[in-house]
Amino acid sequence: MEGKIGFFDSGVGGISVLREAVRLLPQEQFVYYGDNANAPYGIKPEREILALTQNAIQSLMANYPLKALVIACNTATSAAAKTLRAQLDIPVVGMEPALKPAHEHRSGGQIIVLATHATLHQEKFHLLMEKYGEGALCVEGTGLVELVEQGIVEGPQAENALHRILDKPLLTPTDSIVLGCTHYPFLINALRRVAGNKIEILDSADGTTRQLKRVLAQHHALKCDGSGSVTLLSSKNDDQTLRLMRRLLALS
Ligand code: DGL
Repeated sequence: MEGKIGFFDSGVGGISVLREAVRLLPQEQFVYYGDNANAPYGIKPEREILALTQNAIQSLMANYPLKALVIACNTATSAAAKTLRAQLDIPVVGMEPALKPAHEHRSGGQIIVLATHATLHQEKFHLLMEKYGEGALCVEGTGLVELVEQGIVEGPQAENALHRILDKPLLTPTDSIVLGCTHYPFLINALRRVAGNKIEILDSADGTTRQLKRVLAQHHALKCDGSGSVTLLSSKNDDQTLRLMRRLLALS
C-alpha cells in the first residue's frame, strides 16, 4: 500500500521507537517529525500539548501522504491520541508506559515508573495505575528530556541527573523501572550504572512496534517487498538536530 508511516515526538525521543520499527518492518517507508523547537512537552499544560501535537501532525500530513501514524511520545499520546483518532482517517498508534508487563513480572519489590510530569498527571495514566499500579512509585524524570535533546546520553552529567532523581526511590527494594518517556531509553547505559544490573528496565518500543505491525496487517497496508527508507524532519530544521537524530537512530 502507498504512503509512508509517520512518526511523531516532541523531539528526538521517538527515535527510540522508530529504530525498533525499522528493525521489524525493514521494507516500510518512514517519515519522522520531531517538534524540537517546542520540546519539552512534558512540563506544558495538557491543552497546549494537544494544540502543538495537532499543528505538527497537520504540517506533516500536508507534505507527506501517510498510511498510519505513530505518536511515539507518551506525553502527546495521553493529551492527543483520542482527538487525533477521531479526526484522522488513518490508523493512529500511541504509547503507554509498560506498567502491565512490569506488574506481571513483579516479585514483591517496587516498580518505579519514570515519566514526564504531564504523563503522570493525565487521566490515561491514572486509569493504567488503577489496574496495574500495585507497588508502583511514580517518579518525574525532571531534566532528562532536556539532556537527551542536547545529545547528552551518558557520562557524568547524565549519571548525576539520574542519581538526583533515583537515589532516594532506589533505597526501597525495586524489581523494575518502567521508562514512560521515549527519550529515556537513550540513557540506558547511564541508568544501568546508577541502578545496577539486577533491576529490570522496561520500555514500550517493542510493544508499540508490534502493535503497529498488527494494525497495518488488519488494514492490508503492510509493505512486504522493495526497499525501505527513513526521512528525518524537525521543526527546528537545523543541521545539529538532524545530525543528532541520525546518531540516535544508529545507536542499538
Ligand atoms: N518523548 C516524550 C514522551 O515520551 C517526551 C516528552 C517531553 O517532551 O517532555 O513523553
